[in-house]
Amino acid sequence: MSTLVSIRDLNKRFPIRSGALGRRSGWLQALREVSLEIRRGEILGLVGESGCGKTTLARCLLRLERADGGIIELEGRDLTTLTRGDLRDMRRSVQLVFQDPWSSLNPRMRIRDIVAEPLRVHGLASGAELVRRTDELLTLVGLEATHGGRYPHEFSGGQRQRIGIARALATEPQLLVADEPVSALDVSVQAQIINLLHDLRDQLGLTILFISHDLAVVRQICDRVAVMYLGQIVESAQAGDLFGNPLHPYSGALLAAVPRPDPRCGEERVKGRILEGDPVGGVKAFSGCAFQPRCFKAEPECMRNYQPLLNLGNDRSVRCHRHE
Ligand SMILES: Nc1ncnc2c1ncn2[C@@H]1O[C@H](COP(=O)(O)OP(=O)(O)O)[C@@H](O)[C@H]1O
Ligand SMILES: [Mg+2]
Repeated sequence: MSTLVSIRDLNKRFPIRSGALGRRSGWLQALREVSLEIRRGEILGLVGESGCGKTTLARCLLRLERADGGIIELEGRDLTTLTRGDLRDMRRSVQLVFQDPWSSLNPRMRIRDIVAEPLRVHGLASGAELVRRTDELLTLVGLEATHGGRYPHEFSGGQRQRIGIARALATEPQLLVADEPVSALDVSVQAQIINLLHDLRDQLGLTILFISHDLAVVRQICDRVAVMYLGQIVESAQAGDLFGNPLHPYSGALLAAVPRPDPRCGEERVKGRILEGDPVGGVKAFSGCAFQPRCFKAEPECMRNYQPLLNLGNDRSVRCHRHE
């Protein structure tokens, strides 16, 4: 599989403001040297606890946020340095599916117009062609084209997420960034949307960056997974390898918290420990491992020494010198 997006050493920090005047009192490092490759046609999972920087990475990828350093290449073009005109093209090829289908759709617009909007904005279709494309998009995501005249509130949560997906697909993007696309939905509806994304990938040859805090969801859809902790990628691997044998203690802990489909094959396969406490160190600078304060394998060296992302071959990297 060839590389569609190559992210290298991406950094992003936000000012922390305090006091009545909102003076800057420090920095929050939301992304630390994030390097990640997204391959053409794959569904790459990005997983980690809330606040670890997943959305910030997505926003940098869409240039809704400017990175402080590093490179994001889409087919060899660096998105971090694009000018306004070039950004327009990029926004056609990279589209976002939002978490919350209730707030991301304009309640006063008919869904036909919601889905058609990107086609109009990018000048991709008009007149009869616009109607045809819109009907086609609604059908593609499993909705009735004849329902195009209805408003978002007339649809269920799952259907609204389908509308959001249809809108994202309107410009025929190469990459779909789905940021917690099923987190606001009931479990039964989650599976339908996951299946839809999976089918769309196969049908359209899409590439999907699937972001979720929920490893159980990621397990259902992703080919490869990158695990993030406090702004860093701590492990990446093919999904089967990660779920079968997590190498980073944090991945193990996340996995140990996921309910197993078959309870009989249970306990001894769980290598990690259930996570306790909250991530600490987001604000503080540190030189060693970010996960060390919560890690059952931690030793003094973990605090002192910088932990590089070790490339183990076979598509596997891990940021822990104490991995198996
Ligand atoms: N615009 C912002 N200003 C200040 N801090 C931010 C901003 N956006 C995100 N953050 C902080 O950056 C960290 C990462 O946030 P985010 O990327 O939203 O995490 P996730 O999507 O994994 O939950 C969090 O600590 C969050 O509070
Ligand atoms: Mg988020």
